[in-house]
Amino acid sequence: MELKLVRSKSSEIEADALVVLVPEGPPPPEFEKPLAALYSSGEITGKLLEFTLLHGLEGYKARRVLIAGMGKPEKFDDAALRKIAGAAVRFLKPKGITSIAFAMGESSAVIEGAILGAWEPDYLKTDQSGKDKAISLITLATSGESALDDAAIEKARIIGEAANLSRDIAVEPPNLLTPLTLADRARQIAQACGLSFEVLDQDRMRQLGMGALLGVAQGSANPPALIVMQYKPENAVSADHLGLVGKGVTFDTGGISIKPSEGMEKMKYDMAGGAAVIGAMQAIALLKPPIAVTGIVPAVENMPGSRAQRPGDIVTSLSGKTIEILNTDAEGRLILADAITYAKQLGCTHLIDTATLTGAIVVALGHASSGVFANNDELLERWMTAAKQAGEKMWHMPLDDEYRDLLKTVYADIQNIGGRWGGACSAAMFLKEFAGDTPWVHIDVAGTAWLDDAKPYLAKGPTGIPLGSMVNLALNWK
Ligand code: BES
Ligand code: ZN
Ligand code: ZN
Repeated sequence: MELKLVRSKSSEIEADALVVLVPEGPPPPEFEKPLAALYSSGEITGKLLEFTLLHGLEGYKARRVLIAGMGKPEKFDDAALRKIAGAAVRFLKPKGITSIAFAMGESSAVIEGAILGAWEPDYLKTDQSGKDKAISLITLATSGESALDDAAIEKARIIGEAANLSRDIAVEPPNLLTPLTLADRARQIAQACGLSFEVLDQDRMRQLGMGALLGVAQGSANPPALIVMQYKPENAVSADHLGLVGKGVTFDTGGISIKPSEGMEKMKYDMAGGAAVIGAMQAIALLKPPIAVTGIVPAVENMPGSRAQRPGDIVTSLSGKTIEILNTDAEGRLILADAITYAKQLGCTHLIDTATLTGAIVVALGHASSGVFANNDELLERWMTAAKQAGEKMWHMPLDDEYRDLLKTVYADIQNIGGRWGGACSAAMFLKEFAGDTPWVHIDVAGTAWLDDAKPYLAKGPTGIPLGSMVNLALNWK
């Protein structure tokens, strides 16, 4: 997909389709006459994501003009722009339209939205003829005084494409994407964009003492892998070292505490956090933020094989802390515990982890916002700022000491579940135990990492969240 920034009047732009915004309410002056009938009939109202496709509109060089409702101007922001651009692409692409121009060039969010909107989860369909209907050119028409430049467009492209890469990985079925194939994908990406790369195999993890991770992995015939991707800046602003840790459970059956069969296929997405970290590392390698960043993805398959760990088992984690396993389906926190400890051993001074960790966060927040837990107010604030820029909604959740009591057991240092209520909080509390004093933010994306149904602006399947926030956090580092 070629991207072009042009400084010219939108009416002068040649394209298969030109997208123009209209606010909710009466027609803007330039459309008052030509669209009077459409407005008076109520066909155009300007409501967000309302589309009206016109052919041969007088005064426009584009073959078609797509009138796109932007909603109420006071509520209009980059997030709305991303949605409109994505929805426009999804509306126009099936019609065989290959070049789209957007007359809304004040923000590069258009580019991100268009790239995300173009992604489809159908790579394993044998009939790929629909792929001919791909958008080959996106033009952004911007006014002379706009601050937008080619560098901003390039940044949006890199982030959009990295998100689609992470969606490509997350959507792969669990028979094809095992921990080892995930590690291979990560290796290819690291080599292509110049990141240093390492995988710890099962033997190495045994030597190091990653008992929590290995306990989860032992029920599967597919061995685990701990993926490490590293970016070192030439222009570091400090000795800070950011660790991005993503849950990489390539399939979560629940293990011996097996899940009900209905909907279990969705547990192929249980590595979406890991996929977001891998995609973020690609974007970071290309955008070169001024901070060292290490991406770590503990990759395992949670299966109930004959060697599977049992409820009642007690494992010793890399940190040395012992953990009583009471539910083998609470596996994400076990692999993250060792990955977080390992990140600290590698010298990370600030940690972000992202995981499809609990059904409880979906009960609490639904599918709109990801849950955010932190042990450090400053890093939390940086995270929230980065997320706002990315248009990824986050909700700060509590992590008070009371939740620690839920994890007490007489048999070990900690147990891996906290009971029925506040399940997202006790899960986060478990991770906090391993983050210790290192500034850390945990993002539970169980409700936001994938869509059960398509939106006008996004296909069904993985969303890439919170890749944009992670990349912005690194880019903003001071
Ligand atoms: N991968 C699941 C969490 C999940 C649930 C993600 C629904 C997306 C949608 C996680 O490993 C899990 O099974 N968590 C349990 C924890 C419980 C056993 C304490 C849960 O949330 O039920
Ligand atoms: Zn589970
Ligand atoms: Zn899981």
